[in-house]
Amino acid sequence: MIYAVDLDIPVSPLTDYSVLNHTSNEPEIFFADPSNVSEDFKQWLDSQGLVMTYPPLIFYTPNGQQCGIHIDGFAVADRACVNFILQGAGSLMHWYSLKNSEEITEQVSTQAGTPYTLYMPQQVTHVYSHAVNWPTIVQTGVPHNITNHTLQPRWCLSCDISRKENPEAGLTMAEALDVFKQWIV
Ligand SMILES: [Fe+2]
Repeated sequence: MIYAVDLDIPVSPLTDYSVLNHTSNEPEIFFADPSNVSEDFKQWLDSQGLVMTYPPLIFYTPNGQQCGIHIDGFAVADRACVNFILQGAGSLMHWYSLKNSEEITEQVSTQAGTPYTLYMPQQVTHVYSHAVNWPTIVQTGVPHNITNHTLQPRWCLSCDISRKENPEAGLTMAEALDVFKQWIV
C-alpha cells in the first residue's frame, strides 16, 4: 500500500499565511477561511479538472507534541488528501495497520466538526513513516498520527480534492496518483 507521495506544484493554497500564528501548547484543528484560499490555487486545480471538496483543514501541532492515532472519518477507507506542511521540518506522519478492524476505540468530532476515530496504540501495528512536504499526497483513511519532535510548531494545510464531475467524492490514493502524475517528484 502507498501512504505518501511528494508533489511539486506551482501554486500554494492560501493567500495570507499570517493567520498561522498560534502559540498555544494545545493542538488545534480549524477550516481555512474560504476567502483566504488563493485564486491561483483554485484556478490551477480547475485546469487539472479538479476542485476542493471543502476548504482546507488546518492542523496545528505545537513543537514537542503529537496527536493520537486516528483516521479522518468513521471507518477505514481509501481517501487521499494533499497536505502542505509549514514549519516543523522533520516532523513525521506515521501510518498503522489495524490488528482488529472491528475494535474501534472512540468516534468523536474534531474542533472543526469533522469525523475522527481514535485508536489505542495496542490496537495497531506501525507500517510506515514519512516527513510530509510542500505538498505530499497522504492516505488519511487508515490509522495515522503526527509526531512533531522539532523545535518549531507545525501547521498542516490539508486539502481534500475531488474531480470536477464528482465534486464531493474525494479521491482514492490510486485516483490521486493518476490525476497528479505529472507533478510527482
Ligand atoms: Fe488525520
